Amino acid sequence: MYNIVFVGAPGAGKGTQASMVARKLNMVHISSGDLFRQALEQGTELGKQAKACMERGVLVPDEITIQMVMERLSAPDCEKGVILDGFPRNLTQAEALDSALSEPGKTIDKVIHIKAAEAELIRRLSARWLCRQCQAVYNMVNSPPKVAGKCDKCGGELYQRPDDKPETVKKRLGVYFAETAPLIDYYRRQGKLSEVAGEGSMEEVTRRIVSALPEEKLVTR
Ligand code: AP5
Ligand code: MG
Repeated sequence: MYNIVFVGAPGAGKGTQASMVARKLNMVHISSGDLFRQALEQGTELGKQAKACMERGVLVPDEITIQMVMERLSAPDCEKGVILDGFPRNLTQAEALDSALSEPGKTIDKVIHIKAAEAELIRRLSARWLCRQCQAVYNMVNSPPKVAGKCDKCGGELYQRPDDKPETVKKRLGVYFAETAPLIDYYRRQGKLSEVAGEGSMEEVTRRIVSALPEEKLVTR
């Protein structure tokens, strides 16, 4: 079992890469943002609690987020190893995760920091579309769907995230640098951090990430 965290600014490619790497290495991809968006789509209590924060581009309160992710992590499929995308997002969440994974053999083994220039992040987010049903991510400039407005994988309807509006992207970037970026040092001190350049083709970035992982821990398929 091998557990990985992906850290990076909005638009760095966490979701894209977590999905590609998880498929390649037969791991489970857990995105806190996707869990919140699913809850919003389904109109659940969790979705209602998260909605206002997501629309403003600020973090959902820790109690709500930590409980949601811990519940997901307790599912049996997580035994084969997980890639966490978008969680933890601040030191409180990182410490909660460390104490939840304190049993022998259960830990965060590696943290991948995906880096990209701010201008590139903004370009990517303004052209991102995603599937309402399965959350697959597209980009109208460099990875459009085969049929406009429809998901290649499940046929679901594609939409633009309301928090990808330029003013909300600016807010999210500010929140990232103030609250999430300190995690990079936290994990560096634990000797778990690898930094990966997030620009170049998606396949190139996947190769960089996989080569930062120890070979013996990984079962590719
Ligand atoms: P979340 O959904 O996690 O958003 P985010 O961190 O802002 O990150 P993004 O999903 O925008 O970017 P990404 O790095 O996944 O990029 P992607 O792969 O899609 O969080 C949303 C909100 O939920 C938060 O603001 C908060 O309110 C709440 N929330 C979530 N987690 C929380 C937590 N732990 N605590 C509290 N609140 C939380 O790629 C972007 C685009 O670029 C796509 O179009 C893609 O196709 C394209 N692209 C990707 N790679 C490349 C490449 N190599 N070249 C060219 N284009 C590329
Ligand atoms: Mg994402």
